[in-house]
Amino acid sequence: MLVKIEKIVNGGYGLGTFEDGKKVFVEGAYPDEVVKVEIVKEKRDFSFAKPVYFVEKSPFRRTPLCPNFNQCGGCHFMDISYEKQLDFKREIVKDLFERIVGFSDVEKTVASPLGLNYRTKVELTAAFIKGEPKLGFKVRKSHFLVSIKECLIAPERANMILEKLPKILSAAEVPIYNFRKRKGILKHVVVRHAFSTNQTMVIFVTKTENFPQAKILSKLLVKEFPWVYSIIHVMNSKDSVILRGPYRTLHGEGIIVEEFDWETYQIPPTAFFQSNYYVAKKLADFVFKVSEVSGKERVLDLYSGVGLFSLRLSSAAKKVVGVESNRVSYKAAVSNSHINERKNTSFVNSDVLEFLKNNEENFDIVVVDPPRSGMEKEAIAELLGAKPKKIIYISCEPSTLARDVKALVDGGYKLERVVPFDMFPQTFHVETVALLQMKSS
Ligand SMILES: C[S@@+](CC[C@H](N)C(=O)[O-])C[C@H]1O[C@@H](n2cnc3c(N)ncnc32)[C@H](O)[C@@H]1O
Repeated sequence: MLVKIEKIVNGGYGLGTFEDGKKVFVEGAYPDEVVKVEIVKEKRDFSFAKPVYFVEKSPFRRTPLCPNFNQCGGCHFMDISYEKQLDFKREIVKDLFERIVGFSDVEKTVASPLGLNYRTKVELTAAFIKGEPKLGFKVRKSHFLVSIKECLIAPERANMILEKLPKILSAAEVPIYNFRKRKGILKHVVVRHAFSTNQTMVIFVTKTENFPQAKILSKLLVKEFPWVYSIIHVMNSKDSVILRGPYRTLHGEGIIVEEFDWETYQIPPTAFFQSNYYVAKKLADFVFKVSEVSGKERVLDLYSGVGLFSLRLSSAAKKVVGVESNRVSYKAAVSNSHINERKNTSFVNSDVLEFLKNNEENFDIVVVDPPRSGMEKEAIAELLGAKPKKIIYISCEPSTLARDVKALVDGGYKLERVVPFDMFPQTFHVETVALLQMKSS
């Protein structure tokens, strides 16, 4: 079946219409391309398809730099020019905001200074293949591992580790975990890198607490790479998430440090931190700018993590309260506040909804940066009830952002700006900031 791609939509799909009017989402096809497709999933009102043959190709296509491009599935846009990637991300956000909120004035995507080797964290899965330990990325919803030697969006040091670590795992005789049989010890290796200080943390995630090879493994790793700043053992019995659970330090420090222009952040192994240091800096500066803090404002930072926005805003706000449910991140935010000598901040280790239900304090500005699932309906209702003058909503999932912004607009807020940031070059993912102002203010 032939189809012309009309636009790019969330998930990185090219959207087209079959002759009978049925919509089709085509993986790996770009606007204006004419593609012969094969249906992979048929629904009542639309289908998912993959390209079989391109009758007309986009002039913006390029040869993907990565040899794993077709198998790994991590970098969906690597075969299109970087300028087009930025346009596409704006289109994806615009499409959602037009349909859900009725807002089309989405601004240009803020580019990433680094197109490759930008990630602050790489999560690798271990597997025992043909008698040898291998590291790579798991194909979504399967136990199949794409074993890789280099990841072009990972920091260079992570690639150095990736090249040598399988041999070190073999030498240390580490039993690799088998996800199907649920047997073995080592599940994942996560590399975190701080770009401003060049500190690298290697995290071994095991199924069980028992990890007798830990000592020899870290010894061999440090011998090979004396620059490794920190080695951590995370015990995580759950197979559905990678980086969660209690941890202990095997070598060096238990944190890495990232320095921004105005603040310093300590990042513990299991805490969230933005995926792209240089774009995170732009994002924090943007949030600071649009907040227009001038010494009088009381700011509430919901889903505050290790305090990225809390601390940035505390430099000019009257006070900032951060709310974070993860205890490790909450504690790091408290320490970061001390390190940066911010006496006007306080942090609450709580679920956002619980906090909002019990809060009686008034805030002028609320910053919101939830996980991909967005805010709970009840939390939005509580936020509306709190009546802040300004809401700055940051999100890495534009569909839940548009859904939540629509609820805020219906609740009396005016959407003033929507700005995409390219936090994740080469992929379809996009970070977006929405700025809302109370209508009567
Ligand atoms: C996308 S991160 C943002 C963190 C921070 N704003 C930053 O930029 O570094 C979302 C954060 O929300 C936290 N979180 C998730 N669900 C939560 C909830 N229901 N209540 C409070 N915090 C939550 C996570 O632990 C995570 O630190």
